[in-house]
Amino acid sequence: MRIETTFQKLVTRDLGFMKYQQPISLQLNKIVLVINTICVCGAGTMGRGIAQVAAQAGFYTVLYELNKTALDNAKISLEKAVGLLAEKGKINDVEKQKILQRIQYTSDIQSCLADFFIEAIVEKPEAKIALFNQLAELNHSECIFASNTSSLSVSSIAGKIKNPERVIGMHFFNPAPLMKLVEVVTTDYTEKGITGITRELAKQMDKVPVVCKDSPGFIVNRVARPYYIESLRLAEEGHIRFEQLDQLLESTGFKMGPFKLMDLIGNDVNYAVSTSVYDQLHQPERLRPSSIQREKVEKGELGRKTGKGYYPYPLKGD
Ligand SMILES: NC(=O)c1ccc[n+]([C@@H]2O[C@H](COP(=O)([O-])OP(=O)(O)OC[C@H]3O[C@@H](n4cnc5c(N)ncnc54)[C@H](O)[C@@H]3O)[C@@H](O)[C@H]2O)c1
Repeated sequence: MRIETTFQKLVTRDLGFMKYQQPISLQLNKIVLVINTICVCGAGTMGRGIAQVAAQAGFYTVLYELNKTALDNAKISLEKAVGLLAEKGKINDVEKQKILQRIQYTSDIQSCLADFFIEAIVEKPEAKIALFNQLAELNHSECIFASNTSSLSVSSIAGKIKNPERVIGMHFFNPAPLMKLVEVVTTDYTEKGITGITRELAKQMDKVPVVCKDSPGFIVNRVARPYYIESLRLAEEGHIRFEQLDQLLESTGFKMGPFKLMDLIGNDVNYAVSTSVYDQLHQPERLRPSSIQREKVEKGELGRKTGKGYYPYPLKGD
């Protein structure tokens, strides 16, 4: 099977800046997928980082976001991040320009035409399902839909999409440009070739893919849950203040204390993941989500992205 899209030609004709772009063929056994364009959906904490990674790997990248302010902020922060790479001498000025020119920013779903989609929108299954179905209507039938969900069942998302065999989990870690690991999450529907292509794509993005089966929290988020929950429990029960706990754990060698890490991830995202893993594992007491975290979400104190979480973060135009 060779999948080559007609869209590839359309894009090349329509967009001047495509002159830098070479389609990238990923081959696995007999399947060759020519990936020309990657569309990243959601330009929040994760989406903007994944878009940067895709553009740096040489793909023409569409970054789609409903919220115009979030999209503008993503453009500013992405330009800053790529600029910093040039300042540090990791890329030269020509490469910097090429990377930035490969990214198209849009709030119009009609512009989301691509070979490979990576969604990083809100952690709600109904939103992800609706998005993939809309994209499936607009795109060729061979395109692949990857979800960056941290904890939702990829199978239950796939089961509600027209081509469930083309749906897969591609779980990047935060910050996406720096963290090497990508969990490639397969379901009973996933075609073997799609798993291989996704793994190859992650490698092309200079990541280390680990294939795992769809299960609550996959691997890392399942193992990491007690790190957050037990820390929140200690603070909730008044045994220790959160700053002390961060300090203590960092002094024992953890790179980030749990509260700093939750602020980086986003308290809304971390709370959604805790709730989802708790429910999928039939609500064991040891994994009960914390009321402290729920209150943070209710107050909108989501962490770095809102300027306040457990700690304050001055927002300087992102
Ligand atoms: N934050 C993390 O550390 C982390 C790590 C790995 C995976 N994830 C997962 O990535 C996804 C996104 O997380 P995030 O932290 O980037 O969230 P975020 O809140 O920072 O960003 C989500 C963005 O998606 C946009 N959005 C919502 N619905 C949309 C739609 N239908 N179409 C287009 N845009 C839409 C929102 O406006 C927002 O800007 C979630 O599934 C989360 O579980 C998060």
